Amino acid sequence: MTFDAFKTFDAQELEIQATTCLKPLVPETELVFGKHFTDHMITVEWSAESGWNKPHIKPYGKLELEPSSVVFHYGFECFEGMKAYKDTEGHIRLFRPEMNMDRLNKSSARLGMPTFDPEELVKVITEFLRIEDRWIPSKRGYSLYLRPTIIGTQTALGVRAPDTALLFVIASPVGPYFSTGFTAIRLLATTDYVRSWPHGTGDCKVGGNYAPCVKPQSIAAEKGYQQNLWLFGEDDEVTEAGTMNFFMLWENFDTGRKELITPALNGLILPGVTRDSILSLVKSWEAEIGIFVREGKITMADILKAVEEKRMIEMFGAGTACIVSPIKCINYKGKDIEIPLGKTKNDSEAGPLTKRINDTILDIQYGVVKHPFSPSPSEILRDLKSYQVYNWPNIKMIELLSEAFSFISAPITKEIIKKELRIFWRSRTNNVRTTAVAAMRASQLESTLSLVLNSDPVLDIIIENLNEQQEATVLQQEESVEMTKQDC
Ligand SMILES: Cc1ncc(COP(=O)(O)O)c(C=O)c1O
Repeated sequence: MTFDAFKTFDAQELEIQATTCLKPLVPETELVFGKHFTDHMITVEWSAESGWNKPHIKPYGKLELEPSSVVFHYGFECFEGMKAYKDTEGHIRLFRPEMNMDRLNKSSARLGMPTFDPEELVKVITEFLRIEDRWIPSKRGYSLYLRPTIIGTQTALGVRAPDTALLFVIASPVGPYFSTGFTAIRLLATTDYVRSWPHGTGDCKVGGNYAPCVKPQSIAAEKGYQQNLWLFGEDDEVTEAGTMNFFMLWENFDTGRKELITPALNGLILPGVTRDSILSLVKSWEAEIGIFVREGKITMADILKAVEEKRMIEMFGAGTACIVSPIKCINYKGKDIEIPLGKTKNDSEAGPLTKRINDTILDIQYGVVKHPFSPSPSEILRDLKSYQVYNWPNIKMIELLSEAFSFISAPITKEIIKKELRIFWRSRTNNVRTTAVAAMRASQLESTLSLVLNSDPVLDIIIENLNEQQEATVLQQEESVEMTKQDC
């Protein structure tokens, strides 16, 4: 997708209105998914006439909408689910946020609503996270769930693409899905309702896909199954497990090799970020563990036969909320099919592959291992040009600050940076610009400077970056001295 200025909003124009009344934090032990919300929210308005307005961060609060707004009548709504994590060094990380942005654009376009430049929303979210820092839990498994949403706000009872829309992002701190080891789930295969159909919206994250799924899920719950298994077509093709992508590890009947298989993206399935990450990780382990990866059709007959022939090894659902959720039973047409779990520990109902996937993704999300799915802030600094993945802290701001302070030849310390920032702050108030900061985009800095002054992680990054630059300069100087000596 290409974007021009009219078709997107600009993160540089972000306006921040901080709340005057901070909410009390919720203790980690009391976190319930999606119950508590942070102090602020992001809003960006759009109209067909003038395009996207400036993005805003403002106190979390009610939206004012007329009852005739199209979102209430025709389901003009799409959303995303993603998380921000705090790594062991206290830096905030996002996990492949560009994938969520692309999917939100795809969903919005499918509903005839506007799209935006994904990088711009990631930048605004990055600012938002900096402001909501205290809400991001630092314990492994805990995170801040983000809910970017686009709704049609036009006030008209006509079914057509809305001429006004609102993009907003709210955030809720969440705890681990499995707090005491994995608990495998039992699924009821749904044969009398379908979630999606060819050329429908099953591959988009639109609100209209979710409400109709609640009834079949309640039926499953009434019968003692935690989720339902979605099927499609005459041959009962497996599509999704509740609101998760479906995976199974089995021995392929035709090839005899161990295979991790998941339904292909044929329009019936949501292209999960976790799904894509699992495929890529397990592919990279292929030589080591001898498990091949395949995207393809899976029918209930395939599952029944594999279980009967003892070729089924593990089965799980995958999604942002849980990463993986082991499956131990499917009820199909009144009969329970028991799925092997390949338990690793007594307290954990997950097979070795399921567990390894979960641990690896957690390690990436919390910065325990280096991986391009979640680069550390310093890795991003080294690769400023790519701008592919945005992460905390705001790269552009760090880049500008680092550039502005590159004249400092003394060892960089927090005190020096703070002093320079204060000079700049005062000079702005007096309407005088110092040469040191002349290169900086003052308007961008104005709203964020006071926050930077109080943010140790940001200062650490600036210092790290500046020290690296200084070391590089010293090295270059030494090299050129060496060269001169050789020339002589
Ligand atoms: C229907 C459905 N399938 C799959 C997923 C998993 O997607 P992701 O891994 O991006 O969270 C979700 C969750 O967003 C979902 O709602």
